[in-house]
Amino acid sequence: MIGQDISLAKQFLINNELVAIPTETVYGLAGNAFHPDAVIKIYQVKKRPQFNPIIVHTNTIEKIFSFTESFPPILLKLAEKFWPGPLTILLPKKTTIHDLVTAGSNLVAVRIPNHELTNLLLTELEFPLAAPSANLFGSMSPTLAKHVDEQLAEQIPYILDGGQCEVGVESTIIKLNTFDKIEILRAGGISEEEIAEEVGYIPKIKKSALKPEAPGMLMSHYAPKLPFKAGDLKILLNQFKHKKLGVLSFSEEISHPSIILNKILSKSGNIKEAAKNFFTYLHELDDTGVEIILAEFVPDIDLGKAINDKLQRASAAFNYY
Ligand code: TXA
Ligand code: MG
Repeated sequence: MIGQDISLAKQFLINNELVAIPTETVYGLAGNAFHPDAVIKIYQVKKRPQFNPIIVHTNTIEKIFSFTESFPPILLKLAEKFWPGPLTILLPKKTTIHDLVTAGSNLVAVRIPNHELTNLLLTELEFPLAAPSANLFGSMSPTLAKHVDEQLAEQIPYILDGGQCEVGVESTIIKLNTFDKIEILRAGGISEEEIAEEVGYIPKIKKSALKPEAPGMLMSHYAPKLPFKAGDLKILLNQFKHKKLGVLSFSEEISHPSIILNKILSKSGNIKEAAKNFFTYLHELDDTGVEIILAEFVPDIDLGKAINDKLQRASAAFNYY
């Protein structure tokens, strides 16, 4: 069922059922982070390996204090600057956060999202919500309620419909390293530049951090169902000219007789608009009946880093071409 009924969503969550929730980044598949029954269901529904931990969402820093051991000042400063918003912070957890949520780690990933409906829901709940992106493991993140509906409708009782996600790429994940410096574990909705401005240095991006356990497997992350290739469009168009093509371009219209559909991320070349449209357009291309989707990389600045990272991973899944 899809709707906007917060009390109904709350009731399901209290009963350890799962509810898909809108956030400013992507839709999440949410369950009670304090209850193993709910958390187990998240892994099952997503078909996600249990070594891959889940982000915990709530609506106030006070609530986070109650389930974490400490909140180092520099991380608190970033939290106060960017929350509610697309930043996820790793903090030492208390035992109320079940080990299943963190896949055995003593650090829990937390964030305060920024979406009217979900934040209202979080205000009413006495427990935080564990929520990975609401897609099957390895496939594209959902930025519309219908994307969740297509993949998970039969397995969850309710999808809270909050429209198209405004940021459109997942949160940036950060932690403090052993030298008390900020490290980025995943590029996302808060840019490296924005963090640098707050902390006074450019944080290191730990490229391998999210795929140490099963590198080959996770390279296929964010992949469309169709064959997908990212690179120089001129070369790719020539290489695949005998196929029916879907093309994702950054700001310019691309014309070629083999192109069935060309989606342009931002005609004005605005990187934020490009991020907002990224998954929505990829889903659309994936559903258009073309034979292969071709995409070009976007400028590697601001949210462009997150977009390019996803393009690269999606493309790596089809490197047999
Ligand atoms: O924007 C987002 O972050 C969305 C929305 C729903 O909040 N969530 C999301 O969750 O993207 P997910 O599960 O698709 O990606 C979360 C990533 C995973 O790659 C996971 O390995 C990492 O965060 N992660 C979660 N908890 C962690 C932890 N305790 N330590 C290290 N990495 C963690
Ligand atoms: Mg995900």
